[in-house]
Amino acid sequence: MRLPSIDLSYLSPLVSQADLEQFNEPLRKAQHALHNGSGAGADFLGWLKLPAEPNCSELDKMIAAAAEVRSHCDVLLVVGIGGSYLGARAALEYLLSPYSNFTSSPQVFFVGNNLSANHLHQIIKIVGERDFAVNVVSKSGTTAEPAIAFQVLKQLLEKRYGKEGAQKRIFATTDPQQGALRKLSEAEGYATFGIPADVGGRYSLLTACGLFPLLVAGIDAKSILKGAAFAAEALQKQESLATNPAFSYVAARHALLAKGRGIELFGSYQPAAHMLTEWWKQLFGESEGKEGKGIFPATLELTADLHSMGQYIQEGPRSLFTTILEVEEPREDEILVAAADEVLGYLNGWGMNAINAAVQKAAATAHIAGGAPTIIIRTPEVSTAAFGALVYFFEYSCALSGYLLGVNPFDQPGVEAYKNELKQLLHSK
Ligand code: PA5
Repeated sequence: MRLPSIDLSYLSPLVSQADLEQFNEPLRKAQHALHNGSGAGADFLGWLKLPAEPNCSELDKMIAAAAEVRSHCDVLLVVGIGGSYLGARAALEYLLSPYSNFTSSPQVFFVGNNLSANHLHQIIKIVGERDFAVNVVSKSGTTAEPAIAFQVLKQLLEKRYGKEGAQKRIFATTDPQQGALRKLSEAEGYATFGIPADVGGRYSLLTACGLFPLLVAGIDAKSILKGAAFAAEALQKQESLATNPAFSYVAARHALLAKGRGIELFGSYQPAAHMLTEWWKQLFGESEGKEGKGIFPATLELTADLHSMGQYIQEGPRSLFTTILEVEEPREDEILVAAADEVLGYLNGWGMNAINAAVQKAAATAHIAGGAPTIIIRTPEVSTAAFGALVYFFEYSCALSGYLLGVNPFDQPGVEAYKNELKQLLHSK
């Protein structure tokens, strides 16, 4: 097993080694604060130990329930939003395929991540008369989007299977002790999985939030946890830029921020990573964007966005940098190009994977020449273990980065503002 590695060669000449090294000591202090719980948000550090100390009985319960769903259901509808949604979808698309619903059973669809009646109707139509189960995921149980979608699906299940049949097809992932969904689940007798009280939504991929839907899709959750545990051990031990990739990534982000690069565009040349970049966006956006601080996280899908955002990256305001997630070992066989045409003849004999790698290199070279630096994060392969390591790497980097900024990376006080406005609006009817 290997950790993700960081290539900073496309930061030069904008960022020097000395620019990076200045963050080594602050990072060491941030790491100590994280480990000894003396930093901000210390009551939300449960994610740090999740992979090394997994809740085995909970995991076994999930595995048994997932086997049950797999044995008779054609579809699983996962109801959740934000941290209760993005991780599972990211993992599913990255590890299987964004199109896995066309090839695998049970199909897994995500609802409750918007308030569009249209979207919910579309998914219900896709389910049709087939046998389905629902995994409702909400730590608080009071989030409007999943609560509304769940009510609709609960009624549908009860109408189709009766109260008892519905009860067997509903799995609730929520706070282990309190909250509206916990109460409802106990009253209705649903099977439940816990989101530990000290794990916040965006750090919850390695809990039942992420793992139960993955198990239903046939993915080896234990192997994801093993990969994360490997990363946890390595990242927590290493205290220097040279040996800790999280230090390198965070130092690069902060060195770039110090040079006026306050926007990070995160992308991959593998479209299957798109939802992973969306998960990353929430992780960093919600963790860092507070008190007037934070690097603005946005995502890219490549090579598609070279044909839309490429112009801006190359010649727009010099306020951004790009971070690329590179998968070292291609997953599928090479596809050889036979262009045969005079204009495109130079492509003949090349493979698509090789051209994809060449484009990545060409774009990073052109962008830094135009003053837009690139950080490359390399993961060895697409596997459950490497994915677990990658998730932990990002969570750990995000926590360190928040501490370096001087913010609490584990709260989200700003999210409440619009919710209060919405409540007032709806109450005033
Ligand atoms: O990261 C977070 O805390 C949020 O994105 C939440 O996960 C999201 O708002 C959903 O909350 P809940 O799980 O309580 O429904």
